[in-house]
Amino acid sequence: MADYDYDVLIIGAGPGGYVAAIRAAQLGLKTACVERRETLGGTCLNVGCIPSKAMLHASEYFDAAKNGAMAEMGIEVTPKLNLAKMHAQRLDAVGGLTKGIEFLFKKNKVDWLKGYAAFESADTVAVGGKSYRAKNIVIATGSSVTPLPGVTIDQKVVVDSTGALELPKVPKRMVVIGGGVIGLELGSVWRRLGSEVTVVEFLDQLLPGMDMDVRKEAAKIFKKQGMTIKLGTKVTGVAVKGSKATLTLEPAAGGAAETLEADCVLVSIGRRPNTEGLAIDKAGLELNARGQIETDHELRTKVPGVWAIGDVIPGPMLAHKAEDEGIAVAENIAGLTGIINHAVIPGVVYTWPEIAGVGLTEDQAKEKGEIKVGKFPMLANSRAKTNHEPDGFVKIIADAKTDRVLGVWAIASVAGTMIAEACLGMEFGATSEDIAYTCHAHPTHSEAIKEAAMGVRGKAIHI
Ligand code: FAD
Ligand code: NAI
Repeated sequence: MADYDYDVLIIGAGPGGYVAAIRAAQLGLKTACVERRETLGGTCLNVGCIPSKAMLHASEYFDAAKNGAMAEMGIEVTPKLNLAKMHAQRLDAVGGLTKGIEFLFKKNKVDWLKGYAAFESADTVAVGGKSYRAKNIVIATGSSVTPLPGVTIDQKVVVDSTGALELPKVPKRMVVIGGGVIGLELGSVWRRLGSEVTVVEFLDQLLPGMDMDVRKEAAKIFKKQGMTIKLGTKVTGVAVKGSKATLTLEPAAGGAAETLEADCVLVSIGRRPNTEGLAIDKAGLELNARGQIETDHELRTKVPGVWAIGDVIPGPMLAHKAEDEGIAVAENIAGLTGIINHAVIPGVVYTWPEIAGVGLTEDQAKEKGEIKVGKFPMLANSRAKTNHEPDGFVKIIADAKTDRVLGVWAIASVAGTMIAEACLGMEFGATSEDIAYTCHAHPTHSEAIKEAAMGVRGKAIHI
């Protein structure tokens, strides 16, 4: 290795970076991973996927007990919220999983370099006053909250997702700015625990990027659950006085302003790549117009030996996308062929019901050519009906000529689990006929996928 300290040095230990580090070490490469946090796992394990799901799961039970869903099944309880304990189980999940990564680093002999990394040149980074030279450097620095100009996040009255995971008491009125994934997941948590939640979304529908049928149905479902949804509305100011906030809202298209009072304001208008302080110019790199680092399909930047993965590069900001890129980059560095299919990356919103999709939306598919669509309501699925889960549907979009599946969308209690089947099918180039003639266990929610596929061909059984 001559005068290199490492074969691979990875900056950032989120799902992209830690997975890349473990895979590189498994492939026999001398590997280090730099992380500035006290714990490994990045946004996802510390303040993202895992703690949000801990709060979503717990609050779902509370809601089912409180809103009568349990009573419908003959379980009559009056729930009492112990928020401190709910937070403790969240922290327990985070602690266990982040420690687990530390264990995996030790097991695979990955060196954790604690501190902030900054490039000194294309093959050298400084961490804590020391320089490390590596044959390959992977930038996996992730992303952080996009601020709303003029609005200060104090993590008390005005919070970002991290603050919203840790609120010490249930706010009476919560206003969520941004009807995307974070706003709907964390808005759902506090709505279930008793807040009056208003979601203010700039666009004319929630969840940009998802299929339009799904977006419209989601808005109906969240309204039915008691959320107030203000679409086509922008927040022009937030004034905080003591423990209260007054928001000024305006129609996105212009018009008369109105005000809204809140005890808590969640700013969730997107995330932006982390590159501050990284001195990427010293590596010979620059950012694109969206502040991201560009790579080719093999995850190489334009500088030989410097690679980038995860939220810091273009594409959906999702943990599983970062992880798959982590595996692929390590394999490419080791001289293997890292494989990642960016056309088949599922997206899941972990609300109740869950909202999931993979591939093209109906509008995107129509732009590419003629299509056929099959749709099956969860109301007609025996398991969903038996479980008192009538909301949602499965929708399959296929090419009209080849019948190849182009996109699958689902709203169902377990849509996040169901979508894996669609991913596998699409990865193998499945047609709707392939799915329609695949035996699905009865009674399962997944039968709705089979029936939607039958619907593409005009012959579902149960509707
Ligand atoms: P990150 O996880 O952001 O990790 C990057 C790491 O790099 C950080 O730990 C950071 O401290 C470190 N770092 C940055 N710069 C430096 C530096 N110069 N030196 C040293 N260390 C540095 N995605 C899903 O797929 N499913 C979900 O359910 C989901 N839920 C989410 C919920 C919330 C509330 C949030 C905020 C996000 C959620 N996400 C979810 C998105 C997911 O967390 C990210 O897509 C994922 O973490 C990106 O992984 P990454 O490795 O690219 O970056
Ligand atoms: P987002 O991009 O999902 O949603 C932001 C929303 O805010 C959009 O609907 C946008 O139109 C709206 N918006 C932007 N500016 C606005 C303004 N001034 N006023 C009102 N609305 C405005 O971003 P979000 O929810 O912050 O999440 C960030 C990222 O984290 C997402 O890209 C997502 O990939 C990831 N994430 C994934 C989760 C999952 O996979 N389940 C869960 C949580 C986050």
